[in-house]
Amino acid sequence: MTKILETSFAGLSLSNPIIVASSGLTNTVQKNKELEKAGVGALVLQSLYEEQLSKQSAELLMKSSYFESGDPALAYLEHNHVDYYLQLIRETKAQCTIPVIGSVNCYKDDSWMDFAQQIESAGADAIELNIFVLSTEIYDEPHFLEKTYIRIAQKVKESVRIPVILKIGKYCNHIVHLVDRLYTIGVSGVVLFNRFYQPDIDINKLQMTSGNLFSSSGEISDTLRWTGIISGELPQMPVAASAGVHDWEDVIKCILAGASAVQICSTLYQNGNEIIAAMKQSMEEWMLHMNFGSITEFQGKLNYAHIEDPSLYERIQFIRYFANRD
Ligand SMILES: Cc1cc2nc3c(=O)[nH]c(=O)nc-3n(C[C@H](O)[C@H](O)[C@H](O)COP(=O)(O)O)c2cc1C
Repeated sequence: MTKILETSFAGLSLSNPIIVASSGLTNTVQKNKELEKAGVGALVLQSLYEEQLSKQSAELLMKSSYFESGDPALAYLEHNHVDYYLQLIRETKAQCTIPVIGSVNCYKDDSWMDFAQQIESAGADAIELNIFVLSTEIYDEPHFLEKTYIRIAQKVKESVRIPVILKIGKYCNHIVHLVDRLYTIGVSGVVLFNRFYQPDIDINKLQMTSGNLFSSSGEISDTLRWTGIISGELPQMPVAASAGVHDWEDVIKCILAGASAVQICSTLYQNGNEIIAAMKQSMEEWMLHMNFGSITEFQGKLNYAHIEDPSLYERIQFIRYFANRD
């Protein structure tokens, strides 16, 4: 077996940089075995929502007017409870050899901390936190989001010994500062970025609707920008690039920007598990063609480390970009 694609992320050794992102793709042992067979480097299990950890909150949510009967989210809230989740970790660990990362979608730092310990005891190799919170209130204090991320991460860090990974959204004021603080409190890696629910509007029904469930290739620009900035300014913090990574060239771009690994989701839903082998083969061919014998030989080659002021660099590119159009 070729080792040219080996890498590490958040203290985990991976045979290759392709991690399956948390989603319905990883919610059964059978699917996880198939993903391992297809050649992924690691997998993040579908998130358990903080609401599911408290029976009372789950029941309140299920009775709320947010859900109509038959809504698949109701079944998800009902069935993906703690015991199932812990069993999923145990069985996936028993049947797969690749790293398995547990995931919690949360917004508060209260009672669910016990669950972080249970994820660890069930055998997960790491825990990923998807902190889904938006600052929408006029009186939210500045840096509300950053403070929430740090408070939750700190509590989880105190509860477990396995690596803690933060999956970050794009809507923070100061991503570099946030990642620096996360590193200081011992977070082992960040995922840039989480892709939030995308709202849309139906102009005929005059209703709010859901936008695209899947990302498009174009979304990789922000992922590359911030991977390059974080990798340049905080090389000690491992980054898994995510959102808009659709093919092998995207993976190479993310590594050149400084990522240790990538997380993919939409492309797997759209193209099936077969895409993994094809991506890995093309990456290897490119590496041989470019004379790179390992991932570390080109990781971060195009990050922002050598640019004095990334914001100035971005402004110059911006001026150039529009100056060439009539
Ligand atoms: C159907 C679906 C289910 C998802 N479920 C979760 C989840 O449970 N937890 C989570 O952190 N992210 C979830 N995500 C987000 C993905 O993990 C990923 O961050 C996002 O799709 C961006 O990656 P992509 O551009 O490769 O799709 C989900 C995405 C999709 C499309």
